[in-house]
Amino acid sequence: MPDPLLNPTLELPGVLKTRLRPWTFADAPALVRHANDERVARHMRDTFPYPYSASDAEFFLCLVADSARDLFLAIEVDGEPVGSVGVHFKTDVRRQSAEIGYWLAPTHWGKGLATAVVRSTSAYVLANFEVCRLYAVVFANNPASARVLEKAGYEFEGRLRRNVIKNDEVLDSLLFAQVV
Ligand SMILES: CC(C)(COP(=O)(O)OP(=O)(O)OC[C@H]1O[C@@H](n2cnc3c(N)ncnc32)[C@H](O)[C@@H]1OP(=O)(O)O)[C@@H](O)C(=O)NCCC(=O)NCCS
Repeated sequence: MPDPLLNPTLELPGVLKTRLRPWTFADAPALVRHANDERVARHMRDTFPYPYSASDAEFFLCLVADSARDLFLAIEVDGEPVGSVGVHFKTDVRRQSAEIGYWLAPTHWGKGLATAVVRSTSAYVLANFEVCRLYAVVFANNPASARVLEKAGYEFEGRLRRNVIKNDEVLDSLLFAQVV
């Protein structure tokens, strides 16, 4: 029996024809269509590959279906999944922390959508789970994502120097958090 708290449908206040809802296996073709974009992949971990194939979509949707403790929601615009937001709940001494991550297809960039998504998802998690710290880690060459987090109420906590290697380039990361 799926946990209803991990399978919500969330409306985004003030954003028409857009909602967050659970992924289904029927989303695979749209997922490939939107995720298969180097402009998205360059800012993501290597688990989000480019090119993004049908088997990558299948792998992701199986991971989501099997997950009993993390939140994965499709960003749906006009009935089509065009991005994703996920929250990974930590364990052990960090069990009251969770990490948020997201991506959006480039045709929908620059309209405030990611900010609305991060705001709504964060509010939902803080209201429904025993979490007092939500954080995100952004590659330092991704000012748009840093700005999304600031607009959504996250504070900059620090620069993690030479934290990641992406496309053969060693990069700093920026740590943002919302703490209640
Ligand atoms: C990051 C991403 C989610 C932003 O989505 P979006 O819907 O365009 O974001 P919003 O419109 O809500 O806000 C973007 C903000 O960044 C700003 N911005 C965009 N490009 C910028 C740049 N190169 N430098 C500085 N600010 C920039 C915009 O002006 C806007 O801020 P403003 O409202 O103050 O003007 C989207 O670009 C994306 O999916 N990127 C690829 C994947 C990714 O980076 N995921 C996050 C990994 S941590």
